[in-house]
Amino acid sequence: MTNSDSDQPISPSLRWVDENHQACLDGLLDYLRIPSVSTDPAYGDEVARCSRYLDDELRRIGLESRIVETEGHPLVVAERIKSPELPTVLFYGHYDVQPPDPLELWTSPPFEPRVEDGKIFARGATDDKGQSWAHVKAVEAILATAGDLPVNVRFLVEGEEESGGEAIEHFVRASAEELRSDCVVISDSSMYAPGQPSLLYGLKGLLYMEMLVTGPDRDLHSGSYGGALTNPLNALAQIVGALRDPRTGKVLIPGFYDDVRDLEAWEREQFAALPFDEKDYCDSIGISETFGEEGFTTLERVWARPTCDVNGIWGGYQGAGAKTVIAAHGGAKVSMRLVPDQDPKVLAKAFEAYVRDVAPVGVDVAVSVHSDALPVRFDVEGPFMDAAQEALKQVWGRPAVKVREGGSIPIVQTFSEVLDVPVLLIGFGLSDDCLHAPNEKFGVENFYQGIRTTVRLLELMGEQAGAGQS
Ligand code: BES
Ligand code: ZN
Repeated sequence: MTNSDSDQPISPSLRWVDENHQACLDGLLDYLRIPSVSTDPAYGDEVARCSRYLDDELRRIGLESRIVETEGHPLVVAERIKSPELPTVLFYGHYDVQPPDPLELWTSPPFEPRVEDGKIFARGATDDKGQSWAHVKAVEAILATAGDLPVNVRFLVEGEEESGGEAIEHFVRASAEELRSDCVVISDSSMYAPGQPSLLYGLKGLLYMEMLVTGPDRDLHSGSYGGALTNPLNALAQIVGALRDPRTGKVLIPGFYDDVRDLEAWEREQFAALPFDEKDYCDSIGISETFGEEGFTTLERVWARPTCDVNGIWGGYQGAGAKTVIAAHGGAKVSMRLVPDQDPKVLAKAFEAYVRDVAPVGVDVAVSVHSDALPVRFDVEGPFMDAAQEALKQVWGRPAVKVREGGSIPIVQTFSEVLDVPVLLIGFGLSDDCLHAPNEKFGVENFYQGIRTTVRLLELMGEQAGAGQS
C-alpha cells in the first residue's frame, strides 16, 4: 500500500492492484486511445468501437456483458449476480468524451495518452474513462484473487453523457426491474483537494438555452443605416445585460429564485470550515477577484446557488481589421446551473418570457432549449454511505469531507427517482484536471487509489451484508 500510515488492512485484492499496476494502466491507455467524442457524428464509429472495447473487457474479467443499441450511442450493460440475498451495487460511468478542440493548445495529441510526472494526459483521462476504469479494475482485482465478488455488481456505462443524449434515461425508466440495485456508485467528479477524499451529496441541474436575435433582412452599412434601427447585436447585449444585476450578481429573471432551497445552517458551517483561500483560488484561474451573488461565499455560490452564464456569443464582423457593418443577426448560448428545487421546464418558460420582455422593439428573438437536467441533493447517511466513508478513510488515511458540486450528471436524478436507492458520488479527479479543456489529465496515483477505494468499498459492503445475515 502507498498509504503505509493508514490503518488499512491489506487484502489480497489490494495486493493484486499493486502487483498489476502496469496492466491496469495499459488497459486504460488503450481505452483512452479511442476517440469516443459523442457530440460529433464524425466520430460515430469510434464511439461504437469504444463501447465494444469496454464490453470485451467486462466479459474478459468475468461479467456477463452486452451492448444495448439505442437511438443514440450504445450502452454497455454488465452484471455478475452471485446471490439474490446479497446487496447489488450498480456502477455508472460514461465512455464518451468531450471534443478535444482547440487542438493546438494540447502539449501532446489528445488521443495518444502520455504519462508524465505521475499524470496521464489524454481526453477522457479524468472525465470519465480513468475514473470509470478504476471500477472495472477493482472488480477484476477481487475476481482475480477471491474468485468471486462479495456483493452482486452491475455496470451501466453510457456513451452520450457529454452530449446530453437521452438514451440512458429511456433505458433506466424502461428497465428499472432489470437494473434493480441497492446503491449506485459513480466516480465522475473531483476531490475537494489533493489527498482529501470527498463524498458529494449534491449536483447542480442545468438549463441550456440559445437565443437568436434577428433585425434587418441583410447586413447594412453602419453609416448609411446606423441610428435608424435597432442593431441586433446591441439588442443582444441589452438582453444579455438584463439577465443579471451587475451589482448584486442576482439573476433577474422573474421567479428564478422562487423554488431555491436555502442552504442549511450545517452546510454553511461545513463549507466555511473547509480550507479555502480566495487569493489562491483567484491565482489558480488567473483572475484578480471573485464575483457572484451577494450574501454568499464563493463555495456557496458554486455549489449551492443557481447561476446564469453566457457560454457563447456571436454575430457581426469577427475578422481582422474594421468592417463598418450592422449585422443582420446575432445570438448567444446561455446556461443556467440549477439547485433543488428549481425545475428547468418551468424556468425555460420564464427565461423566454423575460427575454421577450426585455428585448427592444424592432428585432425578433427566437429562443430554444438545448438541454436540461434536474438538480440533486442527498442525505449522506445509511449503511452504504457509511461503507463509502469507511473505504475512503482506510485508503486515503483521512475522513472524507461532504461537499456539493457545480457540475451536472443528468442521470443521477433519474437513478435516485426510478431506482430509489442511495447514490454514492465518489470522485477521484482534481479540480485542475482540465476536464473539457486542453491537456486533460488524471493523476496515476489517483487512478490506483480509485481502484483501491472501490475494492475496499465492495469488500466492506460484503462484510456488512455478512454481518447482517449472521
Ligand atoms: N464529470 C462531469 C460532471 C462534473 C464536473 C462533476 C465537475 C463534478 C465536477 C460530467 O461529465 C459533465 O461534464 N457533465 C456535464 C453535463 C451536461 C452536458 C448536461 C456538465 O456538467 O456540463
Ligand atoms: Zn464531462
